[in-house]
Amino acid sequence: MDPHPILQAAAVMRVLVFTLALLSSVLVASEAKIIQRCHLAKELNDLGLSQYLGFTLGDWLCTVFHESGFNTDPPVSPTRRKAYGLFRINNSDWCSDGVQPSKNLCNISCSKLIDDDIKDDILCAKKIIKQNGHLKAWPRWAKRCRGKDLSVYVKSCNFEIPIQETKSYETW
Ligand SMILES: *[C@@H]1O[C@H](CO)[C@@H](O)[C@H](O)[C@H]1NC(C)=O
Ligand SMILES: *[C@@H]1O[C@H](CO)[C@@H](O)[C@H](O)[C@H]1NC(C)=O
Repeated sequence: MDPHPILQAAAVMRVLVFTLALLSSVLVASEAKIIQRCHLAKELNDLGLSQYLGFTLGDWLCTVFHESGFNTDPPVSPTRRKAYGLFRINNSDWCSDGVQPSKNLCNISCSKLIDDDIKDDILCAKKIIKQNGHLKAWPRWAKRCRGKDLSVYVKSCNFEIPIQETKSYETW
């Protein structure tokens, strides 16, 4: 009998174990940048975005889920135009990264949109929706969230959602 199949199997196992270890450390590393859904919901609520201009927490969470996956990792775009953070706020209109010329309407450094403090992100998003009057700045809201049952996004979040979830935008 040729002993090699066993050695080969052992080598394959070692590669597998190594790959799994590598994969799980990558997963852990990127997990650190994922903001908890209910934590975001609470901050949005605390900063007055529940029912702000008729949009519900479900609308915001659905938008963030589809824009960034609750992920605050820095953008990987190879171009100078980039979108940062949970809300994928861009560096041509709303934040400044010091490279791309920007109107910087939120008066904020883009690097503040990829750190752990999400309050300034939310306040900038609030400014965007206030200026536009709607969530259309986020194309994925219209595509994925608008008119859908969004209750799953706030499900089991352990804080009071004070106002009923009406949707005034449906009357546009
Ligand atoms: C912009 O932010 C800086 C501090 O980061 C502040 O000193 C300045 O007054 C702000 N400008 C406006 C127009 O709000
Ligand atoms: C930046 O964002 C604004 C609204 O949020 C949008 O109108 C504009 O097209 C965006 N710019 C780029 C380059 O994506």
